[in-house]
Amino acid sequence: MELRRILTCLLWLFAGAASSAAGAATPAAVARTDPAADLQAFQKYFHEQFPNVPPDDFVNGPYSMNKGMRAQWEQIMAFPPYDFALADGKKLFDTPFANGKTYADCFANKGIGIRQNYPYFDPQLGQVVDLPMAVNLCRTANGEKPLNLEKGPMASITAYMAYTSRGKRFDIKVPDDPRALAAYDNGKEYFYTRRGQLNFSCASCHVASAGKRLRGDVLAPAMGILASFPIYRSDWGSMGTILRRFVSCDSQVRAVPLKPDDKAYRNLEYFLSYMGNGLPVAGPGSRP
Ligand code: HEC
Repeated sequence: MELRRILTCLLWLFAGAASSAAGAATPAAVARTDPAADLQAFQKYFHEQFPNVPPDDFVNGPYSMNKGMRAQWEQIMAFPPYDFALADGKKLFDTPFANGKTYADCFANKGIGIRQNYPYFDPQLGQVVDLPMAVNLCRTANGEKPLNLEKGPMASITAYMAYTSRGKRFDIKVPDDPRALAAYDNGKEYFYTRRGQLNFSCASCHVASAGKRLRGDVLAPAMGILASFPIYRSDWGSMGTILRRFVSCDSQVRAVPLKPDDKAYRNLEYFLSYMGNGLPVAGPGSRP
């Protein structure tokens, strides 16, 4: 078991070194895609690094790592700053489109309590569909314009959908379809590839330095890092989706972020969500 951890670490180091040497995307040195084995090694790493953090608490990101921040957060949560978005989201969710249909008509179980199943690989579309994309597919199928994927009404609607799913455990599936496996691999590669002027990968900050301080922030651990989305962030002054966060983290390392609707971001979300399997939905969240 210990050996596996060492091997995994070496693999990460190797992936980092290889990609910085090539200066571009180099696939991690894995012979065969094995999401289940990745998941086990990934979660084991965090449980061993942070033996005192209760497993379900990882979804609380920086608050799971830092007592002082947690105390502040618990005070703020007396009046959660996402409450307004939640009410707005429910209203938008229930309001019929011009054709009389509603969001409920597009989703399993009328869209209630389903957040834990997103993103999923859609065999018809041949790509990963996350919740914001599914919301937009529902809109366009009903003759409505797609929404901005990063904030505003999209954040409100998905906040409401997450809220109805709180406590349900993430159950992301990577089916045995070469296209799904390729999407997973692509997301994994994005996560471990160094980029930007700072030459950091997502893993440099959220795996290797999880719980450490970076300027005013405490770095969230990568396990369960998407479970609280969408989130209200005081430094944004509003709600944001997972995509908004990906764009801002890519900008932090002074890389040029992808377009929010780039497949690579959904693949990244697919990989990271899969790594959080078994953890509870905690969205919407609030962050400093
Ligand atoms: C230079 C370090 C750095 C890198 C590299 C980085 N991030 Fe972040 N990330 C941060 C900081 C700082 C925050 C805000 C504090 C926190 O919650 O971790 C953050 C927050 C997040 C959050 C929200 C966590 C929460 O609980 O609110 C997610 C999700 C995230 N990052 C994903 C990524 C992904 C995916 C990548 C790679 C594309 C990435 N980050 C790369 C520094 C980084």
